[in-house]
Amino acid sequence: MLAKIVINADCKKGKISKNIYGHFAEHLGRCIYGGFWVGKDSEIPNIDGIRKDVVEALKKIKIPVLRWPGGCFADEYHWKDGIGPYESRPKMINVHWGGVIENNHFGTHEFFELCDLLNAEPYICGNVGSGTVQEMREWIEYMTFDGESPMANLRASNGRKEPWKLKYFGVGNESWGCGGNMRPEYYADVYRRYSTYVRNFGSNKIFKIACGPNTDDYNWTEVLMREAGKFVDGLSLHYYTVPGTWERKGSATDFDEEEWFITMKKALYMDELISKHSTIMDKYDSEKRVALVVDEWGTWYDVEPGTNPGFLYQQNTMRDALVAGIHFNIFNKHCDRVKMANIAQTINVLQAVILTDGAKMVLTPTYHVFDMYKVHQDAELLDFNIDTPEYMLDSEHGIPQVTATVSSDDSGKIHISLCNLNPKESVTVECEFRGAKVSKATCTILTADEMNAHNTFDNPNKVVPKEFDEIKIIDNKVIVTMPKMSVIVVEVGKVEE
Ligand code: AHR
Repeated sequence: MLAKIVINADCKKGKISKNIYGHFAEHLGRCIYGGFWVGKDSEIPNIDGIRKDVVEALKKIKIPVLRWPGGCFADEYHWKDGIGPYESRPKMINVHWGGVIENNHFGTHEFFELCDLLNAEPYICGNVGSGTVQEMREWIEYMTFDGESPMANLRASNGRKEPWKLKYFGVGNESWGCGGNMRPEYYADVYRRYSTYVRNFGSNKIFKIACGPNTDDYNWTEVLMREAGKFVDGLSLHYYTVPGTWERKGSATDFDEEEWFITMKKALYMDELISKHSTIMDKYDSEKRVALVVDEWGTWYDVEPGTNPGFLYQQNTMRDALVAGIHFNIFNKHCDRVKMANIAQTINVLQAVILTDGAKMVLTPTYHVFDMYKVHQDAELLDFNIDTPEYMLDSEHGIPQVTATVSSDDSGKIHISLCNLNPKESVTVECEFRGAKVSKATCTILTADEMNAHNTFDNPNKVVPKEFDEIKIIDNKVIVTMPKMSVIVVEVGKVEE
């Protein structure tokens, strides 16, 4: 099998926002509690209650932005419950996610501290579904007002005199579903009203993100852009890769090749979704001022046997690594419109990059893809054309075998990331450079022998990136032979133009 890529190295297509490599953390299962937060008195090493091991791991992949507190939880969340002394914070039932007690120990102050430790931009989602305009307005004042005001004084009395900088704010989550079951016409007006009071205090300038469509609800995008587009900075899109049905999604680790194939195909569907929603957005915003923010994406399987169905805990295999690579290649390709994406979710929930069990922590194959792809953060997308063989499940069902991104960074290095979606066949990829002379190339690979290979607390290094030397340069072509089911990132050094 041979795939050919022609790279026009002197043709830049636009910046790949680093925020495409963003994350999402909800008060759901063990994402916040046990994942990020163990509390100050925990024996697990922590900084003011935040796990040290997790912070170190996430810093390594340079997480640029973190969305919080939900998800469906956001539209049940009343931020004043999560400030002040722990003993006076009210407890509540987390109705959406397992009906467990939420003690509100992780709140606004803790979230900003976490973002500081990670060096990540906070992205807060406000409560439209069950909250008031006043509540949302006061939260913004509490976080960002510098001076004398009821909320700024309250913040100071809770130990934080200085306001925080807050850039990204979502006005409701899934307002078409768990966030209020609204129709787009109604939500467009609600958005206009609520977002009016999401004020810019002092020098803090908020990028307002409206609830966008579920999957292929193109009418939602049309109505929102038409009725509220001029008040919107970003429009969200949610799409999950579910191999089966919502009732029987399929196992995270026990699957056959057909399920592998369907999962790849459904991940590739993100490309069509972005193209079609972008076309509608272009109609109202030809200058592409409004960003498409894919603030929930990833695989969604049946929960691990024996775990709380409301906690959405699933394992993560080589299949998930490919799903991540496929998504990044799609987001990068659409970097003129897609300015942020947030995997659901960072720890212990859905397509997590980290799993924890008490003091133990394991990095998933998806984590390693984030690590390998970080070279594309804020790099320039380069023009390229790919001619790939098909990966055929049988004589009738095929998908592209190879997907790719090519970008160049500030220092002039070019990175080619490649995904081989075929779990049975290797493929040789020939990358021909035009507009640059190639002199040196190195390569990192993530691959496995079995489709369901994964990392466990007992065997944490089964799927980890390695250096790969099956690479050569001939006649200004970088040629790499990709093993079956692999993710590869090639670094092309010192290019003379
Ligand atoms: O990520 C899990 C849930 O999926 C989120 O809470 C919700 O927004 C979506 O339906």
